Amino acid sequence: MARQRKYYICTACGTDFAKWQGKCAACGEWNSIVEADAPAPAGPVVPADVITLADVEYSAVNRFTTGIGEFNLVCGGGVVPGSVILIGGEPGIGKSTLALQIAGFFRTLYISGEESPVQIRLRAERIGSPLNAIQLSSATDVEQIIRLAESVKPQCVIIDSIQTLYSSDIPGLKGSVSQIRESASRLAGAAKRLNAVLILIGHITKEGAIAGPKLLEHLVDTVLYFEGNFSRDFRVLRAFKNRFGSVNEIGLFRMEERGLVEVTDKNKIFLNPYLSSAPGNAVSAAVEGSRIILFEVQSLVTFSSFPNPRRMADGFDLNRLILITAVLEKHAGLKLNSFDVFINVSGGFQINDTAADLAVAVSIASSLTNKPVPHGYGFLGEISLSGEIRPVSLCGRRIQEFKVSGFSTLVIPDAETGEAAAAGFTGSVIGIRNIQNMMDNLF
Ligand SMILES: Nc1ncnc2c1ncn2[C@@H]1O[C@H](COP(=O)(O)OP(=O)(O)O)[C@@H](O)[C@H]1O
Ligand SMILES: [Mg+2]
Repeated sequence: MARQRKYYICTACGTDFAKWQGKCAACGEWNSIVEADAPAPAGPVVPADVITLADVEYSAVNRFTTGIGEFNLVCGGGVVPGSVILIGGEPGIGKSTLALQIAGFFRTLYISGEESPVQIRLRAERIGSPLNAIQLSSATDVEQIIRLAESVKPQCVIIDSIQTLYSSDIPGLKGSVSQIRESASRLAGAAKRLNAVLILIGHITKEGAIAGPKLLEHLVDTVLYFEGNFSRDFRVLRAFKNRFGSVNEIGLFRMEERGLVEVTDKNKIFLNPYLSSAPGNAVSAAVEGSRIILFEVQSLVTFSSFPNPRRMADGFDLNRLILITAVLEKHAGLKLNSFDVFINVSGGFQINDTAADLAVAVSIASSLTNKPVPHGYGFLGEISLSGEIRPVSLCGRRIQEFKVSGFSTLVIPDAETGEAAAAGFTGSVIGIRNIQNMMDNLF
């Protein structure tokens, strides 16, 4: 009889190896590789069924909506009964708070292996959750939890967190790969049978090594990551995978005493509230899912004491910044080679949109020349290697957002000036063709 072989798996990225090693060759994480049992040899093959697609019976997906609009939006319009949602995030970001807020909209079974019932009650009182709708248990045994769910018949089961689950008939320690994977798959099966929404909470570490949640992504229907900057109160809920909706949506929250509060002035939260006309600041608009977000780019250009001047970017791609500085040197005549360039996107927002190029270039030029951008100016445009200002996607919608937020002057690609008129923008519009054109118009 064949001996059951062992193999080794990385808890951070899920890659498997024949031998143990200290550092994962796939993701570079240290000490993340653990032993796992190879699957048991297959038994006799049972013939499988086949069905024509047209014969598959279905009913339209009906969704429960919670009273939290941002959460509904990120889930694709509400949560689907029988589906599994994984919420991942760093410790302290607000996962338990969000889960408890969601719990209040259902008959919920809340399983907490992390906090005591007293802690949860105190939090529920603080954030105003209905105390009678939520059943609480500190069970950590998966079979016990499934039994409990079968007797309580909840609409929603919350597991806080998946790392605390345990089942005595699964090999491995609590929190190990086999335990997490198998526990989650048994719970998902139970949720489907009971037609309940299953919300799994999973911790990820500061470095983004996702010990646990990463292994579950294929097993669940929706993966949401909760991100934020602890020094600021904003929290961003981002869909990473969604079988029932778009993954481009983000939900915006503010962490307050009464829990997570939806942000109402969404388009402006990443703007510097003082919008000061200091040199080095320029405003642009980014597309995030179905919404447009205005943000401010801040640059600091200072004389460098290093032979290789520094380029640093917070909230913006560093390679893109290097490219923009090179274009400014070559095509706008800015002598940046003896200056350090630091840029920052206000509010801790991360920009992955080339429409921000022009704002970045303007803010660098503004800081270098020490001339502020006049109040009420907005910038849109992608910069090409030859220094041309290219059109951007969804230009009309971005202009609309500038209009609503009271901007008086837009500096946009020359080819898009018609969009401004079409969007009903009544302020002045400066259409520019290339980066030299921008310098001539503004500095
Ligand atoms: N009284 C309070 N007022 C405002 N914020 C609070 C209060 N108590 C806790 N918080 C916030 O809640 C966060 C913890 O949220 P929690 O849901 O427990 O996070 P997680 O479950 O992701 O570890 C803290 O980091 C803090 O920002
Ligand atoms: Mg928690």
